[in-house]
Amino acid sequence: MGEVNWAERAVPQALKLFPYLPGKPIETLLAEKGLKEAVKLASNENPYGPSPMAIRAIKKAAGQVHRYPDGDCGELKAALAAKHGKITENILLGNGSNEVLELLIRTFAGPGDEVIFSQRGFIVYALAAQAAGATGIPVPEGDGLSHDLNAMADAVSERTRVVCIANPNNPTGSLHGMTAIQTFLDRLPRGVVVIMDEAYFEFVTDELGDTVNGLSHPGLVISRTFSKAYGLAGCRIGYAISDAEIVSLVNRFREPFNVNLIAQKAALAALDDIDWMMARVADCKQERDRLELTFDGWGVLGGRSFGNFVLLRHDKATQILQMLEDQGIIPRPLGPYGMPDYLRISVGSEQENERLLKALESIFSSFQE
Ligand SMILES: Cc1ncc(COP(=O)(O)O)c(C=O)c1O
Repeated sequence: MGEVNWAERAVPQALKLFPYLPGKPIETLLAEKGLKEAVKLASNENPYGPSPMAIRAIKKAAGQVHRYPDGDCGELKAALAAKHGKITENILLGNGSNEVLELLIRTFAGPGDEVIFSQRGFIVYALAAQAAGATGIPVPEGDGLSHDLNAMADAVSERTRVVCIANPNNPTGSLHGMTAIQTFLDRLPRGVVVIMDEAYFEFVTDELGDTVNGLSHPGLVISRTFSKAYGLAGCRIGYAISDAEIVSLVNRFREPFNVNLIAQKAALAALDDIDWMMARVADCKQERDRLELTFDGWGVLGGRSFGNFVLLRHDKATQILQMLEDQGIIPRPLGPYGMPDYLRISVGSEQENERLLKALESIFSSFQE
């Protein structure tokens, strides 16, 4: 330790925080294993990349990065407001939807306040609540995989400021339909902010419908992202749709230029190419269903997923993770979610999925030797 004990000087919650563990980067695995190439199936990215129109917009924007971006994201906000039948004051932009979630929690919850989330819900809610100095209230899933909406409503107290629901959920892949969500919302006090995190919305448009205009609660916030279906994870851009006063309050916490120029232009172009995006979503769902069918046949399917990832369940999950990594395939272990016998595997391209299935087949047959 140096001459100053910095841990003593940090805010108290800093010492309790455990940093978010992202999927292992390809470069790290290559260096660890001395491999020449590898496939990353650990971060629910889109294997097909963004729309060619978005790529053109990114290239064009590259020549303008000596200028600050529009801090208000005016053009993009207008496009999103029109898309959702809202006004620009209802739209909040962020550096990934992750930032939107953190800003919302920081705006509405502090020391002494409670933030409710599902125990195996997206881990960022717990981290953001902790970082804000608020108390996180994890609610166990009744079946181990889906949010127990009744138990979550029962957990609401006078101190509850925010409730977070991921629908579909990452990492469990579970989904609740609009009627179940509305029944849940009807049980909540009007002053509770409810974040409906719909990062995987484009994969469930048929099952969910228009949640933005179909669900109702005064504190409802619907968050979406360009990272998954739109294939723009590296740009970092996401948004939320909510009450104008909620958006205006959160904007006070936002840094002035939180969404960079390239991300804004790429998102605008991607919105102009919805057909391309939805065709890739259909490809991904077809591949997901193929993987799930195969996993089911092997008796290792961890549950039905509505996202762009599948769940593998096996009592040798840790060993399987190592063996896949040895073969240059990076899945995501779910130990941090209390699911040590699960691996979450993002749906890759057809070729990547073939490679995964072959690798798993050889791993499972080696277990029988
Ligand atoms: C449920 C959920 N919400 C939010 C995010 C954050 O995505 P981003 O910050 O890239 O928009 C993710 C990313 O994996 C997610 O799975």
